[in-house]
Amino acid sequence: MKPASSTQVVPPGTTVPRHIAIIMDGNGRWATKRFLPRVAGHVKGVDAVRGMVEACAERGVEYLTLFAFSSENWRRPADEVSLLMRLFVTALEREVAKMHLNDIRLKVVGDLSRFDVKLRAMIADAERRTANNTSMTVTICANYGGRWDITQAINKMVAASGMEPGASPAFEETDLEPHLAMAYAPEPDLFVRTGGEERISNFLLWQLAYTELYFTDTFWPDFDDAQLGLAIDSFRQRERRFGRTSEQLVNQKKAS
Ligand code: IPE
Ligand code: IPE
Ligand code: MG
Repeated sequence: MKPASSTQVVPPGTTVPRHIAIIMDGNGRWATKRFLPRVAGHVKGVDAVRGMVEACAERGVEYLTLFAFSSENWRRPADEVSLLMRLFVTALEREVAKMHLNDIRLKVVGDLSRFDVKLRAMIADAERRTANNTSMTVTICANYGGRWDITQAINKMVAASGMEPGASPAFEETDLEPHLAMAYAPEPDLFVRTGGEERISNFLLWQLAYTELYFTDTFWPDFDDAQLGLAIDSFRQRERRFGRTSEQLVNQKKAS
């Protein structure tokens, strides 16, 4: 069933976020601080991904979404980009079997057309193998941009409507949502950005409408289960009003 949108229906409260979306930032600075090449930070970053998948599975998080490569990251030096691609390939080679064993579904979203044929085939194979797993969904956002997502969804929505050219469209939010790249997941409850920057950097622009935002100075390679615990503790202290007043929430609690 398609998850309800936070602007259509107020989602039920949870103590453990159902969906955590993370901008994994700070690999380069982690390495530079240690007089290592940036590459070393990315390698450590992959270890941190493995740890985070395990930590979230243990804590009962249903959806973990990780921003691995943005549509703007092509602007980096060519050798860093190709290293990141190679790391992606080796991570898939090494991790998919274990994820499958742990009943984890893997999804990769973004404009995959820019990746080479081998990587695309590996992604398709990993998604196919893990498609029926139900304990947790891990989504890797690769060559992903929030603006790309909304634009591709509009194109798909218009194509699906069979609209005549020149007809005046009257689409609603709910018409667009099924075409977004992550239509299979509820909106994130908790957004985490490591590495100290406080910006969205073209991540899930549509889906973050009512997500709780958490920023930490910790660099991604150091972000472990204890750090995740701090983020979840912060999440638990938030009053998620979704447009309502605090008083309404108190009364609702009293009534239930
Ligand atoms: C995040 O770390 C990883 C990717 C964007 C691929 P960075 O590489 O952005 O690290 P900093 O921000 O330069 O420290
Ligand atoms: C965001 O990090 C993208 C990923 C973590 C994949 P960046 O390091 O690319 O973001 P900016 O450039 O600092 O905004
Ligand atoms: Mg960065």
